[in-house]
Amino acid sequence: MNNNDTVTRRRPTDGQLALARKVAAGEARSNAGVGHVPASVYIDPDHWAREKRTLFDRMPQVLCPSALLPDPNMSVAHDATGRPLLITRDGDGKAHVFMNVCRHRGTRLVEGCAVAKGKRMVCPYHAWSYATDGRLLALPRPDTFPGFDKDAHGLVELPSHESGGLIWFSPVEGADFSDAAEVGRDFDAIGFAGKHLYERRTHLVASNWKLIMDAFLESYHVLRLHAATIAPFFKDGITAGDQIGPHQRSLVGRAAEMEGIDLSDWDELRKVGTFAYQLFPATVIVVSPDYVNVMTIMPQGVNRTMAEDFMLIPQPPQSEKAESHWRRSWELLDGGVFASEDFRAAALGQEGLETGAVTQLTLGTLEGGIRRFHEICTEEMAKGDAALANG
Ligand code: FES
Ligand SMILES: [Fe+2]
Repeated sequence: MNNNDTVTRRRPTDGQLALARKVAAGEARSNAGVGHVPASVYIDPDHWAREKRTLFDRMPQVLCPSALLPDPNMSVAHDATGRPLLITRDGDGKAHVFMNVCRHRGTRLVEGCAVAKGKRMVCPYHAWSYATDGRLLALPRPDTFPGFDKDAHGLVELPSHESGGLIWFSPVEGADFSDAAEVGRDFDAIGFAGKHLYERRTHLVASNWKLIMDAFLESYHVLRLHAATIAPFFKDGITAGDQIGPHQRSLVGRAAEMEGIDLSDWDELRKVGTFAYQLFPATVIVVSPDYVNVMTIMPQGVNRTMAEDFMLIPQPPQSEKAESHWRRSWELLDGGVFASEDFRAAALGQEGLETGAVTQLTLGTLEGGIRRFHEICTEEMAKGDAALANG
C-alpha cells in the first residue's frame, strides 16, 4: 500500500511544471499594454462565414469528454456542430465518430441525444442494424437485395481522436491530431480520463461564440460579475500562460502559497493553483481543486451559440451527502455562474455591440489572454484560407 502511494503519485507534465515555476517566481503573463479587438469580428455575418469555413469546417474539435461513453458498446447522437454526428465506443473500447445517417435511404439512424448502451443501432425505418464500430450487421429480407455487398455499407466515418479523456473529431479527412495528443498528455497528468461524468447540460446563448470564449480568458470579471456566486472562493493571483499549438494553457496561483510546495507533485500543485485550457477553436476546460469542467462551445450563427457544459468528478457519489454536495456544486456553477452570469454577460455584450455604438473593444493587461486568442483566430483563419486556396 505504502509502495503504491509513492508509485501512483501524479506528476505534472514539463509544461505544467514550467507554468507553476513562473507563478511561484511571481512572473505574470507578459502583456504589452492596452489592446483592442474590432467589434466587427462579433457581429459581421461575413466574418462569421469565414470563421465557419476556415475554422469550424476544417479544424479538429472536441466533442465531449470520454466519460460521456464510459463503457464499450455505447453511443450518443451529437447535432450541435451543424452535422448529425454519432459518437460511439465499440466493443473493444475504441471511440468512433460517424455521420448519424443510415446507408439504406439516408434516414437519421439514432433519434434524440441520450446516451444509449447496446451492441446494435437499428434504423427506425426498415431496421437495418449497425454495430458500434460502424459495420452493417443485418438487414431484413436480404434476399431482396441480390448481389448486395454488406461490408461496403457501413456507416460513414469521420476522423476522430481520443486522448487525455477527450473525444475529438475532424470535419475533413487528413486531420492532424498531434496538438490534441499533446494536450492529452497534460490531461493524463491530471488523471482526467478516469473521472466520472456527474452531469451535462446544453445552453443556447444569444451571442457570438467568441464572447463566451472571452469570458473564460480573463479573471478580471470574477470578483465583479460573480460577486454573488464564486467570487468569495476566488483568490486574486498571478496568471502564467503559454500555448500548445493553437491551444492556450494558463495557471492562476499565488506565489506566497507556492512557497515550500513540491510543485512536481500534482496533488500538491492543484491545491494552490488552477489550470485552465482553451482548446482552439472553442472548448474550455477548468481544473478546479476537486472537479473538472469541460465546456464545448458550438456556434450556430453569428449571434447564436450552443454551449454544452460537462462536470467531471473523481468518482460516482457514494452517499446521499456526496450526491447533494455535487448537486449543489453543479447548480451553482452551471445554472448560476455560467448560465446566469457568464452567458448573460455574453448576450449583453452581443446586444451592445450590435448597436454599433462601440467600434472596438478595449483590453487591459489582465485581459491579455483574450488578445492572444483573437491573434490565434486571425492566424488560423489565414492558414485555413491558404489551405482552401490550395484545394
Ligand atoms: S432508411 Fe434505414 S433501414 Fe431504410
Ligand atoms: Fe466567469
